[in-house]
Amino acid sequence: MKRYRDIAGDGGSDIVGQVEAQQQRLAARLRDVHAIVAVVSGKGGVGKSSVTANLAGAFARTGARVGVLDADLNGPSMATMLGVRGRTLVVGAAGVEPPLGALGIRVMSMDLLLADDATPLTWQAPTQAEAYTWRGAMEANALREFLADTAWGALDVLFIDLPPGSDRLATVVGLLPALAGTVVVTIPSDVSRLVVRKSITVAQGLKAPVLGVIDNMAGMFPGPGGEALAREAGVPFLGSVPFDPALAEAADRGEPYVAVAPAAPAARAFTAIAARLGQALLGPRS
Ligand SMILES: Nc1ncnc2c1ncn2[C@@H]1O[C@H](COP(=O)(O)OP(=O)(O)OP(=O)(O)O)[C@@H](O)[C@H]1O
Ligand SMILES: [Mg+2]
Repeated sequence: MKRYRDIAGDGGSDIVGQVEAQQQRLAARLRDVHAIVAVVSGKGGVGKSSVTANLAGAFARTGARVGVLDADLNGPSMATMLGVRGRTLVVGAAGVEPPLGALGIRVMSMDLLLADDATPLTWQAPTQAEAYTWRGAMEANALREFLADTAWGALDVLFIDLPPGSDRLATVVGLLPALAGTVVVTIPSDVSRLVVRKSITVAQGLKAPVLGVIDNMAGMFPGPGGEALAREAGVPFLGSVPFDPALAEAADRGEPYVAVAPAAPAARAFTAIAARLGQALLGPRS
């Protein structure tokens, strides 16, 4: 397939110029973002979004300036988990202002652009067959636009919540000027271990380091945990987060668990993991 650079005549729309201008805008937008961290897992439903919301919350509680980009365009959940669902996006002089969610976290999600609860994301294409062919390119374009048009301002950390699977990680990383690292989420089960092992391989192929593996919903499943997986893959183990139904209830209310029940074991686990990440990303903080 032709890449956009190979397109000889583009009907005067200057696609190459447009994409390059957007890419430059994106780099300028992210200039004041100290560290970008992608939260990934080959496996769906293991808690990537919950981990993103709670790590963002744990960083925000230490006074860090935190943003979250929901890169799951088809199953966005960050607007719900961080309490900005239904907020109207404001376009200021500097660009689209990400709404401030729980603990002042700046959130950008496809959820904020969809008309209502029942509306799914659909790509505009003359036929569904063409939508199928172009889906990857359209997703990458949408994410590039998100990153280029959002006025993040100065941030210590920008977390990117990815959809399940390993393939999107390379796409997102390709759009970013720099990635500080990836955090890989798994649950203690053999099925998860096998799938997540593959996503660690993908993450290890990037220039950015794998910051570590998090074992989520610990105690819920009997299988081998994230610690063994991390050891096997030769990457750091960041910690275990126990299964706690109250964490899920808080997420549905738009509150990171670390904000509402900081003394609960699951919240303490997130706080400890964030402290370890903070050391790696921001250095010792006074
Ligand atoms: N430690 C936990 N204890 C209890 N419930 C949890 C925990 N972690 C996540 N959950 C719940 O499990 C469900 C799935 O979590 P979440 O949406 O974060 O997973 P995900 O990996 O982002 O899913 P997807 O692959 O669809 O993006 C949610 O209802 C969430 O509230
Ligand atoms: Mg998710």
